[in-house]
Amino acid sequence: MEFREVIERRRSIRKYGPDPVPEEKLRRLYEALQLAPSGGNKEEYAFVFVTDAEKRRRIAEEAGHQDFIGQAPVLMLAVCEPGREFDVAIAVDHMVLAAADEGLGTCWVGWFEREPVRQALGIPERKAVPIMVTIGYADEAPECRSRKPLDELIMLNEYRPPGS
Ligand SMILES: Cc1cc2nc3c(=O)[nH]c(=O)nc-3n(C[C@H](O)[C@H](O)[C@H](O)COP(=O)(O)O)c2cc1C
Repeated sequence: MEFREVIERRRSIRKYGPDPVPEEKLRRLYEALQLAPSGGNKEEYAFVFVTDAEKRRRIAEEAGHQDFIGQAPVLMLAVCEPGREFDVAIAVDHMVLAAADEGLGTCWVGWFEREPVRQALGIPERKAVPIMVTIGYADEAPECRSRKPLDELIMLNEYRPPGS
């Protein structure tokens, strides 16, 4: 896909088909994470891909508040040094766009319990677990959700308070 098309076609997917994600597609997601920029090129993060059915079930049941987490064939949990969440967001967005390019659906998930995830994956207490992403083949085709108009979003040369 053209880069522009990838950006325009990505959606948050909350309904997944049962097919597993082939290893070569996962590999391209890993490489997108690897190529992302980070402050000082420190790369103070790691990304745990969970394909094991029992671990996914455990995370969905004990940590997730939303049923689609249990449906996705792959869960990705980002782990970082506290304060490196900005870097994680950039890397994860690279991955999410690469997934769209591979014909895969994803959803960022910030609403989950951290402790059961730490337990299930062996993540130490001192590390942050800022985000989970569900990955799989979409079984829905949502419309684009509405966005602010450009004249509210973009400001030229100075900040304009809302409503002015
Ligand atoms: C940091 C972040 C956290 C999010 N957490 C959740 C979540 O916990 N559950 C969920 O269903 N969607 C979550 N989303 C998805 C947003 O709801 C979604 O991106 C937004 O509604 C726009 O829809 P779109 O992604 O289809 O364009 C999250 C998105 C981001 C960027």
